[in-house]
Amino acid sequence: ERAMLIDPFGRRIDYVRLSITDRCNLRCLYCMPERQRFLPRAQLLTLEEIARLGRCFSELGVTRVRVTGGEPLVRRNALWLFERLGELAGIRDLTLTTNATRLAPLAPALVRAGVRRVNISLDTLRPARFHHLTRGGRLDTTLAGIDAALAAGFQRVSLNSVILTGYNHDEVCDLVAFAIDRGIDIRFIEEMPLGVLAGRERAPRHCPSETIRNALERHHRLLPSTAHEGGPARYFLIAGTASRVGFISPHSHDFCAECNRVRVTTAGRLLLCLGQTHSVDLRRVLRAHPDDDQPVRRAIVAAMALKPRGHAFSLVEPPRILRHMNHSGG
Ligand code: GTP
Ligand code: 5AD
Ligand code: SF4
Repeated sequence: ERAMLIDPFGRRIDYVRLSITDRCNLRCLYCMPERQRFLPRAQLLTLEEIARLGRCFSELGVTRVRVTGGEPLVRRNALWLFERLGELAGIRDLTLTTNATRLAPLAPALVRAGVRRVNISLDTLRPARFHHLTRGGRLDTTLAGIDAALAAGFQRVSLNSVILTGYNHDEVCDLVAFAIDRGIDIRFIEEMPLGVLAGRERAPRHCPSETIRNALERHHRLLPSTAHEGGPARYFLIAGTASRVGFISPHSHDFCAECNRVRVTTAGRLLLCLGQTHSVDLRRVLRAHPDDDQPVRRAIVAAMALKPRGHAFSLVEPPRILRHMNHSGG
């Protein structure tokens, strides 16, 4: 009989997202402020501490771990952590979210470590736009990372595209064609208002999933997919292809009622909801009890009482959640 994490709304928590660095070699304009101050070393969990947390969560019935950032692969020795997480008996789904710029040299070793699925951020296929949206990145580096991921033999590679009106909304069909060519899935994401850029400032570029779906349906037949993935995306099969299109729509279709997840920030805060501030400092507990996991597990169990019913994202109110995406990994 294994322990289980259940929140006050009866939701079973079996999925944890670990943000292993707040740094990123890109600075997507919807994700980070222009000038980003990164956390000092001492505030970051060490890789050993993160591995310890992975073990504690798995002992509490968590079976799925997703590693996020910032960009997880810019953290030195990140591979060591994947190898430790891959060894945990209870973890049956070890996954990675990445911008793919550092993926090419690491992909085979990540497959060997047990990483099954990789989600790769790709918002545009135009080099100049890519440069603008990422504040300086090179599209060809990301495309090379995607090729390497496809060659390495992950069980699944998917694309994530945050669509912003006036920036890349006119590319949804091109992005879908890119995914179809490679036989992979693509998910379109509505921007979430995190950080100092208020919902009100983001509202003009908000691109509802419905708009994207209508644009795609002019060229493709979308068949609702019943497969339940246990994530925020709603999927449609693209008729006549091996690809699916997913929509992650926090504003129009949140998945809070079926929420199965919590996340740990780069600084070791257990965050009960991406779109809220409820959190517990696990770093303090880890460091107060370096040789005993029981207090850590207790703190995690106790934190479940704080999990809110759903997010508080708003497109009209002033900023509420000052944390940026790169601290919580989305
Ligand atoms: P799996 O469910 O493991 O396939 O992955 P995912 O789609 O949850 O993960 P990914 O890291 O690729 O994130 C895609 C988008 O979903 C990002 O914009 C995340 O911020 C968002 N997302 C992930 N989990 C949640 C959540 O619990 N709530 C909300 N509102 N958004 C989420
Ligand atoms: N809203 C929605 N998605 C975001 N991401 C980063 N910032 C935001 C935001 N403000 C996306 C990244 C990546 C995923 C983990 O989250 O593009 O694909
Ligand atoms: Fe869960 Fe919060 Fe995400 Fe809703 S916004 S799905 S409650 S983490």
